[in-house]
Amino acid sequence: MRFLSITTMILLAAASGFAARAPRTIDPEASCSTAECHAGMDGKQYVHGPVAMGECQVCHDPKGKKHEFKEMAPGVELCGSCHDTYDQEANLHMPVQDDCLNCHDPHGSNTKGMLITDNQGELCFTCHDQGIMEGKYQHGPAAVGACTICHNPHASAQEKLLLAAGNDLCAICHTDFIADMTSGSFVHKPVKENCANCHNPHSGPRPKMLPGTVRELCAKCHQDVVQRATEAAVGHGPVEDPDGCVKCHLPHGSSVAPLLKAEESALCLGCHDKPIKATDGADLQNMKKLLEENEGWHGPLREGGCSGCHSPHGGAHFRLLKEAYPAKFYSPYEPKNYALCFTCHEPTMAKEQYTKRLTGFRDGDQNLHFLHVNKAERGRTCRACHEVHASPLPRHLRESVPYGNWALPIGFNKTENGGSCQPGCHAEVTYDRNKTGS
Ligand code: HEC
Ligand code: HEC
Ligand code: HEC
Ligand code: HEC
Ligand code: HEC
Ligand code: HEC
Ligand code: HEC
Ligand code: HEC
Ligand code: HEC
Ligand code: HEC
Ligand code: HEC
Ligand code: HEC
Ligand code: HEC
Repeated sequence: MRFLSITTMILLAAASGFAARAPRTIDPEASCSTAECHAGMDGKQYVHGPVAMGECQVCHDPKGKKHEFKEMAPGVELCGSCHDTYDQEANLHMPVQDDCLNCHDPHGSNTKGMLITDNQGELCFTCHDQGIMEGKYQHGPAAVGACTICHNPHASAQEKLLLAAGNDLCAICHTDFIADMTSGSFVHKPVKENCANCHNPHSGPRPKMLPGTVRELCAKCHQDVVQRATEAAVGHGPVEDPDGCVKCHLPHGSSVAPLLKAEESALCLGCHDKPIKATDGADLQNMKKLLEENEGWHGPLREGGCSGCHSPHGGAHFRLLKEAYPAKFYSPYEPKNYALCFTCHEPTMAKEQYTKRLTGFRDGDQNLHFLHVNKAERGRTCRACHEVHASPLPRHLRESVPYGNWALPIGFNKTENGGSCQPGCHAEVTYDRNKTGS
């Protein structure tokens, strides 16, 4: 930092070559700034008030008739005889306390505020680390060196010499944006606190002056979610994307909890509106089309959610399911493999060979769920007969089921006390719950 050199005009004159000439007697009443002497002092774009008035002696006090001057008061005191020295404020900028001339030219300059550099940013960076502006993505006002739009160069009641506290600072310019994003019913807590929780006010390595990828940013406070997603055996593409959190969540606020971009099913169907390749290579069907074409939505979907069954961030189970569900068409019967269905449905529906109450899928008391599902080796999984998202038939029965590359027909017909099937597996059979004997 540059400290005020307590100096005299003589020393300064010597330094600038005046001493080489013979000492002259000058008339203290005459103007100091003439075509011959100190020319152009008032030719700057921003000229100091007293200089413009030719009032050199308010600062330079002649000792006598010779070109000699009394020592000037130290900077702050000199300037302080006409100006505020800002020392009332809680936080005083260190160079201001030291010397006004660290930044100002006492006579004038071509930079607004009589600054000693060609622009404001350059001034600040004579002392501050330029690193704050080295991020690839820069904030408009900082990039053009308009530092004093946010910082008071002298002193402030706020930390970091800021002109306003917290979000009020950003609200100087982003008025509409802030009104918009805080109008939703759910406002993200760190947004209420301080925009700078996430955005660097000067520059950052990622778009929107973010300090890292969106995922890294969110992980600062949601470590649990990110860690679970990272460790999940079955991952979900958009969550693994470095900026993926904002494909589903709005970072500032939303009218849909928890900060979702849209109602959940619309959100998911925004991507699942076409066949997609799963990570295991399977072709995932166009879920939007399936739902549009079939009115019989499964209960939890009708209630608006996919997360009744799926973990959007990834999980331990096949197809991001919240609980176990067999991956294949055939599976050994083991109730815990059907934990998903059995969190909402009768867990013993396929347990007993004969029943009059566990299920309606029976012929007399012969449990047909048991018959199809409960096998040590090749039990049919629920998908053999049910489509759990939506289907045109009652009881979420399918018209057909993918069997290898064949759409194996089911041929289900519901009757009052049972039904009939004419599937690709066997000849037509009917069942009747009222049948007696087994
Ligand atoms: C507001 C106070 C103030 C006024 C008014 C003022 N000066 Fe100065 N002047 C200074 C200070 C302070 C310095 C020392 C600057 C430094 O140390 O860099 C200085 C330095 C100088 C110098 C030597 C260095 C240089 O910048 O060339 C000259 C010559 C000078 N002043 C002439 C004048 C003349 C002529 C006037 C009137 C037209 C004038 N000053 C009005 C404060 C003032
Ligand atoms: C004798 C009184 C006096 C002294 C001493 C004085 N100033 Fe000033 N200063 C003024 C006046 C008058 C103005 C013009 C105010 C206006 O235009 O509203 C001014 C304006 C300024 C401005 C604003 C210029 C602009 O373009 O907006 C700065 C910066 C400034 N002075 C800095 C200083 C510094 C630094 C010192 C000490 C080296 C100092 N002043 C000493 C009277 C003084
Ligand atoms: C760290 C650099 C720095 C120091 C030190 C500094 N100033 Fe300033 N000053 C500025 C900047 C930057 C501006 C604003 C220029 C602009 O944006 O118009 C400014 C503006 C001013 C202004 C005009 C606008 C206003 O705020 O009224 C005055 C007067 C002023 N300074 C006086 C002083 C005085 C007196 C001191 C010493 C007590 C001082 N400054 C010390 C950087 C500084
Ligand atoms: C002459 C050197 C110098 C100049 C020029 C200068 N500063 Fe400073 N600034 C300092 C020093 C020294 C500190 C105190 C550093 C500290 O406490 O770590 C400081 C502190 C700050 C702080 C507060 C940092 C904190 O941790 O509280 C901010 C903000 C700041 N300056 C902004 C600016 C801006 C904006 C400008 C340009 C208008 C500027 N500075 C120009 C020397 C300077
Ligand atoms: C849009 C408002 C804004 C602009 C423009 C701006 N700053 Fe800042 N600056 C801030 C905020 C907010 C902080 C406090 C950040 C924090 O606490 O993490 C800050 C902090 C700082 C600090 C302290 C850094 C630290 O790590 O503590 C310095 C130095 C600084 N700014 C310098 C500048 C300089 C130089 C410029 C102009 C090139 C500038 N600022 C432009 C808002 C701004
Ligand atoms: C002086 C006015 C001003 C202030 C104060 C201000 N900004 Fe900005 N901000 C801008 C401008 C101008 C842009 C560029 C707009 C554009 O390019 O469309 C911008 C853009 C942004 C962007 C988007 C960058 C991008 O790449 O699209 C973010 C994020 C941002 N500002 C955050 C903040 C935060 C956080 C604060 C408070 C610390 C703040 N701003 C304070 C003027 C301001
Ligand atoms: C929890 C972190 C977080 C907080 C806090 C935050 N933002 Fe953002 N902001 C983001 C993310 C992430 C993006 C990028 C969104 C995207 O790419 O879709 C963003 C984008 C922006 C944009 C660019 C326009 C847009 O909608 O994409 C602006 C402007 C902005 N934020 C301003 C602000 C302001 C002003 C505040 C304080 C009121 C604030 N932000 C608080 C994370 C945050
Ligand atoms: C600075 C810390 C911080 C950062 C960074 C942050 N959050 Fe938050 N987030 C919170 C806090 C605090 C809450 C409120 C938690 C509560 O009320 O229990 C919250 C709540 C949420 C909620 C709502 C949770 C609920 O149960 O309603 C979601 C969703 C969320 N954040 C997503 C994100 C995303 C996505 C990102 C990255 C763009 C992010 N957060 C970045 C601190 C943060
Ligand atoms: C931004 C686009 C996008 C959104 C939004 C989206 N997905 Fe996905 N989803 C994909 C992609 C791409 C895949 C392909 C496999 C992968 O990369 O994980 C996928 C795969 C899946 C899978 C199969 C996973 C597997 O590998 O077994 C399920 C199930 C799934 N998504 C359900 C959902 C649900 C439920 C939602 C809403 C909470 C949703 N998706 C929202 C893009 C999206
Ligand atoms: C495919 C869409 C999607 C993506 C991508 C996504 N989320 Fe979520 N997130 C949701 C849905 C839907 C919910 C609400 C349902 C639930 O909690 O199971 C949710 C809930 C949350 C919650 C609140 C509940 C909880 O589990 O704590 C947080 C926090 C959260 N997400 C953070 C994140 C973060 C951080 C990322 C990025 C790593 C992310 N999300 C990526 C869809 C998504
Ligand atoms: C009642 C539970 C449940 C609900 C609610 C649910 N799913 Fe599923 N989802 C499943 C099951 C079970 C599978 C595995 C189906 C199979 O492999 O036979 C699956 C598979 C998927 C697949 C992979 C499809 C394929 O062709 O393999 C996608 C994509 C999917 N679901 C998206 C969604 C979306 C989007 C929603 C919300 C609109 C949703 N799911 C709601 C249970 C559910
Ligand atoms: C989150 C709870 C939930 C889960 C998990 C769930 N279901 Fe359902 N299921 C319901 C509700 C609620 C109904 C009643 C509304 C309806 O007909 O869709 C229902 C109805 C059914 C029906 C039709 C019953 C009737 O009386 O018409 C069948 C079949 C069915 N579910 C099969 C399954 C299968 C297979 C699974 C496992 C892949 C499963 N469900 C997982 C909640 C769930
Ligand atoms: C071989 C075909 C088939 C298989 C495999 C199958 N179901 Fe069913 N399921 C049916 C039929 C047919 C009905 C309709 C019974 C009726 O109401 O006439 C039905 C009815 C249901 C119902 C309605 C309540 C009831 O029991 O009547 C639920 C819930 C249900 N099944 C769940 C499952 C679950 C969970 C699985 C896998 C563990 C499964 N189903 C496997 C054919 C099947």
